[in-house]
Amino acid sequence: MVSETPMTLTTGDTDTSPSHEAPAAALELSVVVPTFNERDCVAPLVSALRAALAGRSFEIIFVDDDSPDGTADAVREIARTDPTVRCLQRLGRRGLSGACVEGAMAASAPVIAVIDGDMQHDETLLPTMLERLTQGELDVVVGSRYLGGGGVGEWSERRARASRLATVLAQRLTGVRLTDPMSGFFMARADLVRQLAPALSPTGFKILLDLLTSADRPPRVEEVPYTFRTRAAGESKLDARVMLEFVELLLDKTLGRLLPTKFVMFAMVGSLGVGVHFATLGLVFGFTQAGFATAQATATLVALTSNFVLNNVFTHHDRRLTGWRWLTGWVTFALASSVGAVANVGVATYLFETGQAIWQISALAGILMSVVWNYVVTSFYTWGRR
Ligand code: GDD
Ligand code: MN
Repeated sequence: MVSETPMTLTTGDTDTSPSHEAPAAALELSVVVPTFNERDCVAPLVSALRAALAGRSFEIIFVDDDSPDGTADAVREIARTDPTVRCLQRLGRRGLSGACVEGAMAASAPVIAVIDGDMQHDETLLPTMLERLTQGELDVVVGSRYLGGGGVGEWSERRARASRLATVLAQRLTGVRLTDPMSGFFMARADLVRQLAPALSPTGFKILLDLLTSADRPPRVEEVPYTFRTRAAGESKLDARVMLEFVELLLDKTLGRLLPTKFVMFAMVGSLGVGVHFATLGLVFGFTQAGFATAQATATLVALTSNFVLNNVFTHHDRRLTGWRWLTGWVTFALASSVGAVANVGVATYLFETGQAIWQISALAGILMSVVWNYVVTSFYTWGRR
């Protein structure tokens, strides 16, 4: 409608876009690229993505964990002349999964693709994946290395075996029916990712598995095959820590439905401590001149310290104490355990002497009580947030 009257705020005209510019096509896809030390891959990846997505309306969000090699600067360099590229530089945190989640939270398109920043994933598949997702009424489309037509490229036998083992474990324990549940290459509806984001673990590599197992209703998923490329520059960040985080995620998705994963790990470390105690006791009492009391005291100290170390490295690896904090942590751990031991004896004796339970049950109740106590108190005081 053409009006002769001069335009005012009350004309009811709802078109607020600047008149000198054609309205841009609505964004179809946000590509999220987690990076850590991938400087040399940034420019080639952006070129490859532009070529693969030519004719589509997309944005590229790099989520970099403050890489020492200057990856973020390499991204900004390109972003300066290409506003479809952005850099989200995170400080003080690490983790592929968390980076993907934060990238998704910053994305504007209705669909999000997650792709590695080292060019090992096949970006030419993105248009096909996007079509599948939008036309097939799917929630997630996954790039699979284990579907017919896909492959893992040049992997060492060790890496290939580890990947197969992780895949089988994930399939068996989580019930996710995918050939490649460990894939880091996938596309998903943005609203689904954002809705599940608060429940997703920020550590580790297993964002897809986490996404698929965190929804109340299983998302509608399909896989497309691709071949994993060989790394051209930089190196893999999949290390022992990442594998530990994977085991933790599996525990979380299985036993975690009944008990908190950290508690399960804490209790496992405690059981191991019993073994450490007996081994030390046997050594000191059997092979030195020490009397039983001294041997028992030594064994208690050694087991206490080994429990502390193991919990620090495994159970609470995300809050790991070092230096001076390690020492004060040991002290609070020892104090909490001592109180736990007193409570253990108190509860067990009470149950037994009042005739409420036979001695075995009394002892178990005492132990259970002290494990729960130790776990709760040390989670708070020894490894609590500061
Ligand atoms: N922001 C951020 N923070 N990015 C990270 C981090 C991190 O802590 N760790 C790794 N990345 C980035 C890397 O820079 C790379 O772009 C991508 O995540 C994948 O990491 P790689 O270290 O290259 O993993 P990979 O090639 O060994 O492992 C591949 O296979 C796994 C399953 O076998 C990847 O495709 C994984 O996504 C996949 O889970
Ligand atoms: Mn890689």
